[in-house]
Amino acid sequence: MSDRYCVIGNPIAHSKSPQIHAAFAARTGQELDYERCLAPLDGFEATVRRLVDEGYRGANVTVPFKLEAAKLATRLSERARAAGAVNTLVFADGEIAGDNTDGPGLVADIVRNAGVALGGKRILLLGAGGAARGVMLPLLLEDPREIVVANRTLATAEAMARDFAAYAERIAVRGFADVEGGFDVVINATSASLAADVPPVPDSVFCQGTLALDMMYGNKPTVYMDFAAARGAVVRDGLGMLVEQAAEAFALWRGVRPDTADVLNSMRQ
Ligand code: ATR
Repeated sequence: MSDRYCVIGNPIAHSKSPQIHAAFAARTGQELDYERCLAPLDGFEATVRRLVDEGYRGANVTVPFKLEAAKLATRLSERARAAGAVNTLVFADGEIAGDNTDGPGLVADIVRNAGVALGGKRILLLGAGGAARGVMLPLLLEDPREIVVANRTLATAEAMARDFAAYAERIAVRGFADVEGGFDVVINATSASLAADVPPVPDSVFCQGTLALDMMYGNKPTVYMDFAAARGAVVRDGLGMLVEQAAEAFALWRGVRPDTADVLNSMRQ
């Protein structure tokens, strides 16, 4: 029987992960099964225990269970600990190892797919929830000149910045309206797009050629992408990040990192 994996979430019917991992398996010649797993809102731990008992080799974790997964893991990678959240579990040697590939996925999408190196750059990160926290350490490890974190609730951004105190001289915290200057990369890690809202940052944050990335994606550009494009930015949705975080998880499980370009192209069509 093939090694089994799944993505655990609630809801989960919309997840594109099975399609992505099936494409990776075909391209790398790996034999595996990957399915969707709906866990009851109060039944994440029981679901993971069942998967382990049934011999699954690992799982991805999505909304709303990423924080619970970090608590349940018996071992955490440094980036998962920094994120306080886990999106990838590896079941091996009696352990439930937790990792977080969202940040490396975002960085891979920006650097490799969009072709924008982050070293020495000014990055504006919008939001200070789980999605923003998850990408902080991988972004900092690219050695940007500065990351400005802007959030609707300032105290949440200040608390997040304190958790990355080792990089304090590179991190600034602002309210949306108080962000100053132009940026090389502006990342929307808020969930505002779900409500068709745009974080109200000054127009001047977007310059000609600024990369404006929304972690969300859909059939059409998000309101944030339209807003940024109208101000001269190059826009990008979260589909690349989704494919790249999956490739990082696949590499953790299978020891081979699949080529992502074809998969991303076919998903865009
Ligand atoms: P996620 O896991 O997606 O990050 P979260 O932890 O609930 O979800 O965080 C949501 C983020 O989006 C927060 O930064 C939130 O801002 P607050 O801290 O002020 O709540 C932000 N957010 C949600 N809706 C927003 C909106 N309409 N405009 C601006 N920011 C919004």
